[in-house]
Amino acid sequence: MPAPPRIISVVNEKGGVGKTTTAAHLARAIALQGPTVVLVDMDGQATATKYMLGREDGRPPDIDRSVYDLLTNPDLDGLDVIRLSDRFQTGVIPSSIDLKTWFLDIVFEGEPVDLVEPILSRRLDATSESLRDATGEPIDFFLIDAPPSFGSLYLQALMASDELLIPVTLETLSIEGIYTFTETLEQLEATIDYEPEILGILPCMVDGRRTTQTPKKLSELRDAFGPLLPPEETYVPINSELAQAQHSLPGPSNAALRAYRNLGQWVLENDR
Ligand SMILES: Nc1ncnc2c1ncn2[C@@H]1O[C@H](COP(=O)(O)OP(=O)(O)OP(=O)(O)O)[C@@H](O)[C@H]1O
Ligand SMILES: [Mg+2]
Repeated sequence: MPAPPRIISVVNEKGGVGKTTTAAHLARAIALQGPTVVLVDMDGQATATKYMLGREDGRPPDIDRSVYDLLTNPDLDGLDVIRLSDRFQTGVIPSSIDLKTWFLDIVFEGEPVDLVEPILSRRLDATSESLRDATGEPIDFFLIDAPPSFGSLYLQALMASDELLIPVTLETLSIEGIYTFTETLEQLEATIDYEPEILGILPCMVDGRRTTQTPKKLSELRDAFGPLLPPEETYVPINSELAQAQHSLPGPSNAALRAYRNLGQWVLENDR
């Protein structure tokens, strides 16, 4: 039996902490080492879709099929939804605006569904099998860019994932918030058949110029969650070049990209 894909969701209910940036650049960093990686954009804002598939002149990508179709049409082959991102060297299952209403649509138009049916999980497994049947090659990784608020899409992302990566920013750091999240996970584990692991808590947009605040916050984070922190060379520095490069990529010497390369290496070495 070939190994099933590793499915990692990038989650944090706080907005703007670097989930999408991390999902996209981690996907790229892993893909550059050889594995086949597909990013799944589960956020109706479609930020990852625009970031990874948008054209260099800034025009948005033309999306004909999205993860909405994958969730709602069981006859659709996942391979017909995947688009290739040349810049990121990965596949992308795009999001679309209608994703926000998918749950309402299936509740009101289709058969009644079980709130905790792992639909995305099954569709990703089928997509991976479909690629193996077509090419003999598996999909090694799915990275899911989760939406920022808890709802049916977020739950689908969680239920599909074996591992969770939690980006945090030190400015908005809420140790309390991370504890609350781990409690939510425990509740979910107790009520549905679902047992993900926290792969890591990743400091993002770390501002090295804040010489008192940054070390203080990092040490708070280490005291509370030390074993869940990846090595320091993976912490993503705040980097204006990365923030501005929405339709191109900074050069390989960019410090944030270097951190994401280290993170990719660490994820590959930490195969659980
Ligand atoms: N290392 C970084 N340095 C500077 N800016 C960054 C960095 N990482 C991300 N950003 C910027 O911060 C903003 C938020 O990042 P991102 O969209 O990845 O967060 P998010 O958690 O996915 O947000 P949302 O909750 O809205 O989905 C974006 O404008 C992004 O370009
Ligand atoms: Mg996002």
